[in-house]
Amino acid sequence: MSAQAGADAVSAASAAAAAATTTDATSAASSAVAHTGFALVVDHIDYIIMVPLVYVSILALLVGIVWRVVTIMRSAPPPYPLRLYPAARNAGLAALGDTFAMPQVRRHRPVFWVFLMLYHAAFILLILGHLDIIPQLRLLPAGSRHMLGAGAVGVAVTLPLLFFLLRRLRSPLREISVPSDYLLLLLLLFLFLFGDMMSWGNSWSPNGFVMTKQAFSKYFDGLSRLTFADPRAVLPGSHYHFAVIHVLLAESFFVLLPFSKIMHTFFSMPINLLRRR
Ligand code: HEM
Repeated sequence: MSAQAGADAVSAASAAAAAATTTDATSAASSAVAHTGFALVVDHIDYIIMVPLVYVSILALLVGIVWRVVTIMRSAPPPYPLRLYPAARNAGLAALGDTFAMPQVRRHRPVFWVFLMLYHAAFILLILGHLDIIPQLRLLPAGSRHMLGAGAVGVAVTLPLLFFLLRRLRSPLREISVPSDYLLLLLLLFLFLFGDMMSWGNSWSPNGFVMTKQAFSKYFDGLSRLTFADPRAVLPGSHYHFAVIHVLLAESFFVLLPFSKIMHTFFSMPINLLRRR
């Protein structure tokens, strides 16, 4: 490194340290240096993942869900009755119970049921936790360094997912599993783990993760207001790539969701209603 470049890096580091005491100075210096060559190409790829692809993948998710729902609704009804006996007195309430309490699973596979309940409840909190990072939708105090649940939500989705994955490796489920079953679970596992590392770092380590929740809030704010600003300006440090990988996995998940088994989320209640009516 030349003397001038060294001096620039040091002054960038001290400026960043003055602006945000929690920011790692070395990382801030590295993100402040103008990139050329391969590093510049990586910067462009990062930008595409962190901004335009977020919108494209969410649009693909919405169009995919509508398309799948319409296709399934238009298909011929099954040639056998779905009705459950004995008939429930209140079909709506019974369908709600079937959908959210899954009594049949509880009866036959109680351990699986516990993990299913934990996973689904935590997933709702996970959605709220992400919405909380958007400043306009904030649920926790603005100064809070924690994601909703202070890292516990990450544990509560990751542990059941590990259980679901290990369960598939054992007979008799192994024999009826296809590669896409494992791929979906692995995609979710890595998506969770990259999110966990950021959230657990912010909640459980003394200095927090390199990028604070407030820094993520600025990024989410730009996304929600369609500013198309480069998130690099508000997310300093080389750990930025944890966020980029997390977002890339999230985008893959959004695009695949309409074609995966997760579509049961949208059909569970209508099908239970059909069976109870
Ligand atoms: C474009 C979409 C997404 C973005 C920009 C995003 C961003 C983030 C960020 C910045 C964090 C850390 C927040 C903090 O430390 O304050 C995080 C955590 C997390 N994210 Fe995402 N995320 C996205 C989508 C998803 C999706 C689709 C899933 C799962 C299906 C997911 C699962 C997680 C998990 C499990 C955590 C850790 C939660 C905890 O420990 O409480 N994310 N995400």
